[in-house]
Amino acid sequence: MVMEEERLVTSTKSEEDVIENVLRPKSMEGYVGQEKVKDNILVSINAAKLRGEAMDHVLLYGPPGLGKTTLAHIIAGELGSQIKITSGPAIERAGDLAAILTNLNERDVLFIDEIHRLNHNVEEILYPAMEDYTLDFIIGKGPSAQNVQLPLPKFTLIGATTKAGRLSSPLRDRFGVICRLENYSVEELTEIVERSAVKLGVQMEKSAAVEVAKRSRGTPRIANRLLRRVRDYSIVKGHEEVSLSDAKASLKMLEIDDLGLDAIDIRLMQSMVEKFNGGPCGLDTLAATVNEDANTIEDVYEPYLLQLGFIARTPRGRVLQKKGYEHIGLKYPEGKKEQEDE
Ligand SMILES: Nc1ncnc2c1ncn2[C@@H]1O[C@H](COP(=O)(O)OP(=O)(O)OP(=O)(O)O)[C@@H](O)[C@H]1O
Ligand SMILES: [Mg+2]
Repeated sequence: MVMEEERLVTSTKSEEDVIENVLRPKSMEGYVGQEKVKDNILVSINAAKLRGEAMDHVLLYGPPGLGKTTLAHIIAGELGSQIKITSGPAIERAGDLAAILTNLNERDVLFIDEIHRLNHNVEEILYPAMEDYTLDFIIGKGPSAQNVQLPLPKFTLIGATTKAGRLSSPLRDRFGVICRLENYSVEELTEIVERSAVKLGVQMEKSAAVEVAKRSRGTPRIANRLLRRVRDYSIVKGHEEVSLSDAKASLKMLEIDDLGLDAIDIRLMQSMVEKFNGGPCGLDTLAATVNEDANTIEDVYEPYLLQLGFIARTPRGRVLQKKGYEHIGLKYPEGKKEQEDE
């Protein structure tokens, strides 16, 4: 079993994230950053309101914990619409989706999380539903089979995915608004930490909030999670306010370094050197050596290491870059050429 501490920096959800709902901003004002995305969406919301019609379908994509679910709720709120929530893997058969669609009310928002995991039969029901607000199906078999079309209420589909590349192009083409969420800056994360601290009733030095923000890998979910750990530490110490030294000491105890890297990141980079001489090495082999799931490495660990320029992806596999060597305290091999990230 992997210790919970080691999991702190993954941006995927864990059970303790029930508290996420408490920290989730409820309006566009409270939604920090993502300015381009917000502008884009506000235009569509206002247009829909002016026309008195349902808003265009929206696709939100980007790594876990960046605020897709949060934004979907905010959009529904701004539209004054009800939101119905489901997910790709939860809809097994075409009939399941047909039932959901026929139960919608005019201008409802239907949120489908992990939309890349819809199976093909289900997806086909979605095409005419998105395009013409109709449900198309066939009754009977053979020569007497009949094509039936049922009108559906005019709804807005919001799809969320961490893997936009897995979406089929017919599905993707049916979204009027496509938004990619980006990693957050330290300033934005600081603001998120400060707002969350207020919601949790935590007093905090500004510098402590900045410290948490710096180590959150550009991800609000991680920032909120680290904030809670830092707060716990400070409470145990009997402090009324979270100080910078509380933040530093508790994050050190959690083995999260000053860039937000944890034991798994470090182990990943170390085994690239020890077992593969710095690479290139394949994702699966690498995953096996650190005893982690290849998907987790690809979705959670690798993007941040790539962003930092610590590793690069090449056609022959992953390689450790000079900065990566230096971060784990090793010298970059003399005469070795750095690889271009593809
Ligand atoms: N822009 C933001 N401003 C403030 N807080 C945010 C923002 N985005 C996300 N958060 C916080 O981060 C947490 C995680 O966000 P959310 O659940 O929306 O991520 P997600 O992109 O849906 O992740 P997943 O891909 O795992 O479903 C939320 O509880 C929310 O408090
Ligand atoms: Mg989500």
